[in-house]
Amino acid sequence: MAFLRWIFGLLMALIVVYSVCVMFYYTPETHSSREAMTEALQRLRCAKLRRKFSGIPTARRLNMKRFTQELDDFLNCLYKPNTTEQELNRMRLQFCCNATGSIFLTKRNTAVNQTIPYETTIKSTYTMNPDIHSMLPEDVPWSGRRLGRCAVVGSGGILKNSSCGREIDSADFVIRFNLAYINDSDVGLKTDLITINPSQIKHEYKNLEENPDPFVERVSVYGNASLAIPAFAYTFCTELSIRALRVLHPVRPQQPVVFFSPEYLRTLDRFWKGRGLKEVRLSTGFALISTALELCESVHVYGFWPFGNDLQENPLPYHYYNQFGPNRHMHSMPEEFVRLLQLHSKGALTLHLQPCSSDEP
Ligand SMILES: *[C@@H]1O[C@H](CO)[C@@H](O)[C@H](O)[C@H]1NC(C)=O
Ligand SMILES: *[C@@H]1O[C@H](CO)[C@@H](O)[C@H](O)[C@H]1NC(C)=O
Ligand SMILES: *[C@@H]1O[C@H](CO)[C@@H](O)[C@H](O)[C@H]1NC(C)=O
Ligand SMILES: *[C@@H]1O[C@H](CO)[C@@H](O)[C@H](O)[C@H]1NC(C)=O
Ligand SMILES: *[C@@H]1O[C@H](CO)[C@@H](O)[C@H](O)[C@H]1NC(C)=O
Ligand SMILES: *[C@@H]1O[C@H](CO)[C@@H](O)[C@H](O)[C@H]1NC(C)=O
Repeated sequence: MAFLRWIFGLLMALIVVYSVCVMFYYTPETHSSREAMTEALQRLRCAKLRRKFSGIPTARRLNMKRFTQELDDFLNCLYKPNTTEQELNRMRLQFCCNATGSIFLTKRNTAVNQTIPYETTIKSTYTMNPDIHSMLPEDVPWSGRRLGRCAVVGSGGILKNSSCGREIDSADFVIRFNLAYINDSDVGLKTDLITINPSQIKHEYKNLEENPDPFVERVSVYGNASLAIPAFAYTFCTELSIRALRVLHPVRPQQPVVFFSPEYLRTLDRFWKGRGLKEVRLSTGFALISTALELCESVHVYGFWPFGNDLQENPLPYHYYNQFGPNRHMHSMPEEFVRLLQLHSKGALTLHLQPCSSDEP
């Protein structure tokens, strides 16, 4: 009898343990216990990677193999925007640099005969003459309004075969760089602001005034997008930039040529140097991501990946349209990338480094 009671007790105990296990492992949905476990572990791993990448100090001494594997895992985690963090960055950037009122030289913020110190050498100055002043825009092209969902599209080879064109084109405001080609399903077509590097004018359009057609054709691909030039970064930039303005102003009035305020770029440079970003000068890409953090509701970053292999370790061209790298004496793209990764991990912006799925945005 005692033996039977003992067997019965053992059976009951087993049933209880089994039910508890079932209750613990099986969620009310169709998940199997294995999936639920994996999910819990996955969430832990994501939280760990988020902490790690939020505080990643530098790109020096990175073990690239491990770094790209962990980054690939992290990018498969659920992305959490943090609106507090977004507002903090917006306020910091507005306070230091104020893109809202001063990103470009306009009739509103620049007077005739005003002395404009250069971005990199404030000992050199430019005096705004009435002729050039008359061609400045009245105000910034978006005149103070918040820019919604912005896509900032770098030229990284990571965009090749990405199928991100449709997702990029669905943004409210699209920023591109250096007259990058756009005829392609990987990068999209919509363009609201595109930069021109004065060196491009120098090297690719030598007789701009005598033969403007190739240049006019090249920029007309971008429809009504503003063309932004760092005309007062270095003294050699100014004449080239003014040449572009003179050529385009009469024939493409719907497409304003705008000059970056050297004061804005200088304060932005100082802002990031104060946060440990040591390089000669910020890249225009990084500068305009900062601008977007101030002006846009949300910021999506594409094509910023300064490494030679993708996340699956396949080799990549440096740009999606050519092989030429940046000036390594001037910029430190890996250090800038680490800052972008910090911002992504904190929920301040979204980095896109994987192919886009066809059924999104
Ligand atoms: C969002 O960012 C703020 C400011 O950095 C931070 O205090 C807060 O913990 C973050 N929230 C989450 C859910 O991570
Ligand atoms: C930024 O510039 C705008 C327009 O010039 C001005 O109204 C605003 O007060 C400035 N904001 C800050 C924080 O300086
Ligand atoms: C700018 O300077 C020129 C030459 O010094 C002068 O003739 C002109 O009146 C000035 N214009 C303004 C608006 O100050
Ligand atoms: C893109 O796809 C083409 C065709 O499938 C392939 O030849 C090329 O290597 C791919 N390029 C990159 C960078 O993935
Ligand atoms: C886009 O332009 C590049 C360079 O001009 C060219 O090589 C490529 O074939 C074009 N692609 C398409 C889809 O037209
Ligand atoms: C470009 O500007 C022209 C002239 O202002 C306007 O008619 C046209 O609708 C604009 N196109 C787009 C795509 O906004």
